[in-house]
Formats: sequence, C-alpha cells, structure tokens
Amino acid sequence: MSETSTRRNGSPPPSASSVALVGVNGFGLQHLLALQPLLRAGRCRLVAVADPSPPTGRSEELVGTTPRFASLEDLLADDVPDVVIISTPLHTHRGLAELALRAGSNVLLEKPPTVSLAEFSELCEVVRETGRTVQVGFQSLGSSSYAVIDRAIAAGEIGEVTGIGVVGTWLRATSYYERSTWAGRRTFRGLPVVDGVVTNPLSHAIATALRIDGSRRSEDVSEVSLDLYRAHDIEADDTSSVAVTTARGTRIAAGLTLCAAEQTQPRVVVHGSSGSITFYYKLDVVEVANAAGTRRIECSTTPLLQNLLDHVADPETALLSSLEDSGAFMRVLEAVRTAPDPTPIGDRHVEWRTDSAGRHPVVHEVEHWCEQVASQLRSFTDLGAPWAR
Ligand SMILES: NC(=O)c1ccc[n+]([C@@H]2O[C@H](COP(=O)([O-])OP(=O)(O)OC[C@H]3O[C@@H](n4cnc5c(N)ncnc54)[C@H](O)[C@@H]3O)[C@@H](O)[C@H]2O)c1
Repeated sequence: MSETSTRRNGSPPPSASSVALVGVNGFGLQHLLALQPLLRAGRCRLVAVADPSPPTGRSEELVGTTPRFASLEDLLADDVPDVVIISTPLHTHRGLAELALRAGSNVLLEKPPTVSLAEFSELCEVVRETGRTVQVGFQSLGSSSYAVIDRAIAAGEIGEVTGIGVVGTWLRATSYYERSTWAGRRTFRGLPVVDGVVTNPLSHAIATALRIDGSRRSEDVSEVSLDLYRAHDIEADDTSSVAVTTARGTRIAAGLTLCAAEQTQPRVVVHGSSGSITFYYKLDVVEVANAAGTRRIECSTTPLLQNLLDHVADPETALLSSLEDSGAFMRVLEAVRTAPDPTPIGDRHVEWRTDSAGRHPVVHEVEHWCEQVASQLRSFTDLGAPWAR
C-alpha cells in the first residue's frame, strides 16, 4: 500500500500531509467540503481547526472531533501542520499567513491575499525568507481553460487580440453586508479592508482576465483607472468599472456590479479582430466564436489545495495561483484602496426590491452598462452611464 493511499478503516495514513483550517464558518465551510475528497483519497489529514467562534451548522458536523483552538497561535503551539488554510476576514490575512509561514507551514490563503500592496510585498518577503509556499484562493486559476484559450489565440481563431472585457452582474442583499462587521468596509478599526465588488466578490473576474493576458506580477500592470460607485449603504464600491493597461499593451475593462436585478454568470471575453473567446469561469466553459460558428469547450479545474499538496510533495509541480502571481491583481486592489471613496448612486437610478433574495438595490439598466464597458473597453463615465453623469 502506498504511503498516501487510504487505509482499510477509511482514515488517511499518518504520513499523509497534515492540514489545519483557520476560520471554520462562512467560506470556511467551502474549504471543509473541498477537503472531503482529499481526506477520503488519503491525500491529507485534517489535524486541527482555529476560530474564536465555535463551528456551527454543517461546519460543526464536518469539524466533528477534530481538535479545536481559539486562535492560530494556540494551534501552532500544539503542532505545526504541513498546510494551514486561512479563510478569515481580509484584514487578518497578512498577520495569520506570516504566523503560519514562520512556524514552518505552507499556506492556502483566501483572496484577496492582503489588503495593501505594502503588506503584499512584506508577505512575499516572508515567503522568500522562510522558503515556504503560499497559494492564493483564486480558484478559477486552477482551470485548464488558459491553455485552451492560448491555443485558440495562437491558431488565429479570433485574429489579433484587441482587448479583454469582463462582465460581472451579481445581486447581493443587505444581509450580505450584515453578516460580518467588516463586510462592505473600506477600513475597519483603522486598518484597510477594501471589501468592494472589484477586490472581493468579483475579484476572481479581474484575476482571471489578468491570467488570460499572461499578466501575473505587479510589474506586469502599467496603469489602472477606476470608476467606483455604490448603491448599498456601505463604504466600499458595489458598482464599478475598472480599466487596466498591462505592460504588454492589452486593455482590460471590467463592468462589475452587485446591484443587478438578478445574478448572472460572470464572464471574461477576449476580443479579436475576427472573433472572440468567452470564458465563463464559474462554469469552467470556454466558447470560441468566429465566422465558422461557435465552439464550446468544457474545461476542468484542479482544486487549489490539491495543487498545493502536490507542490509541497514535489516542487517541480508548479503552483497554479502562487502569492507572487497575485501581484498584478494587487496593483488593482491598491488602486481601489487609494482611490477616493465611491460615489453614491442617486436615488432616482436605484430601485429597492424585496424578494426571495432579500432586500436589495437594483441600479437601472446596470446590466446594459456593464456589457458596454466590456465590449467598448470604456468606463461608465466615458460611456455616459446615467448615474455617472
Ligand atoms: N474564494 C472564494 O470564492 C471566496 C468566497 C467567499 C469568501 N472568500 C474569502 O474567505 C474569507 C472569509 O470570508 P467570510 O465571508 O467567510 O468571513 P467571515 O467574517 O464570515 O469569517 C470567517 C470565519 O473566520 C473566523 N475568524 C475571524 N477572525 C479570525 C481569526 N483571527 N482567527 C481565526 N478565525 C477567525 C470567523 O469567526 C468566522 O468563523 C475571506 O478572505 C473572503 O474573501 C472567498
């Protein structure tokens, strides 16, 4: 029997990598669920969890009898796991990640990795000093789609690439911002939080567009311009356009909102002189469209924890979403962090609805304006969106 295979009683062998989870409720539940197939396959053991609050609901069931600690410090004082998963509020990421790395663990760190570019550089330095690894939880970066898209472009299926558009039209009810004290804040207890649509819920869309462009490191981004608005009663932005010019000269423009009438599939569109490629990153589907018709390719995603375990076992296995490769995204986050506060959208452009999603604002025709941003690669202001005039 190999060291990593499942034992007869179903439990992973003691030699399987040890994993701890920090932050068990909220998105921590998704990590507990994602762990299950890896635990069953004997790839790892869940050795401990840390959270000042006890696990509740399904998280409690999945944590079961796993040793619980009130903090990561207490957990590390007991034992140092091979991998620590950090799924906690944004402003705690840097400190917790540093603690785990200095203790000797590798880290799967939720996105955004840190709340400022300075913190990001400091954490990259800790990675270099400790020789440990950080994988950042942009799960769409685990997709096989990037090779598919590269091949379609290289084969000339869409002609010359003329830019990349991003459309994200989601709906968030007021309960989303009521769930945690830091939600929707630009700062919290004197620290940056930067919990807006660009840097948190739809950050995957930005990270995905940058990856399609091959822009990974902070120096791969030349310029970021922003148009930040909000309809919710929050500090941060919930309806924004973002334009990024990358060092290789690509213009990426994103129209993003959490104030749509209904939730739709976010997508990244590579515009070409004779066609386009659309990547629906949550469905893991690529569509290549040109004069010959539309070709649909179902892709597959390697779970980021699995990839991290593979990398730790064999450094020849490349990380799919390394900390350093979040540098280009962090340039966008830094631009949002240092931008003026988002402009409130005037009441006449917003309808408040109460339905099965809860109570939520709907910005008039926001879907249309997000589409325009992505297709024309221009900002809400340039396009003359009514609330931006
Ligand atoms: N990858 C994704 O698609 C995705 C989706 C949603 C959220 N997230 C990320 O997951 C992370 C957590 O978000 P959330 O909405 O679940 O947050 P949350 O505020 O609901 O907190 C999550 C858990 O962390 C615990 N916690 C808070 N401070 C802690 C500390 N210092 N040490 C240990 N535990 C602590 C809380 O008690 C809670 O159980 C964020 O980074 C968020 O961006 C990622």
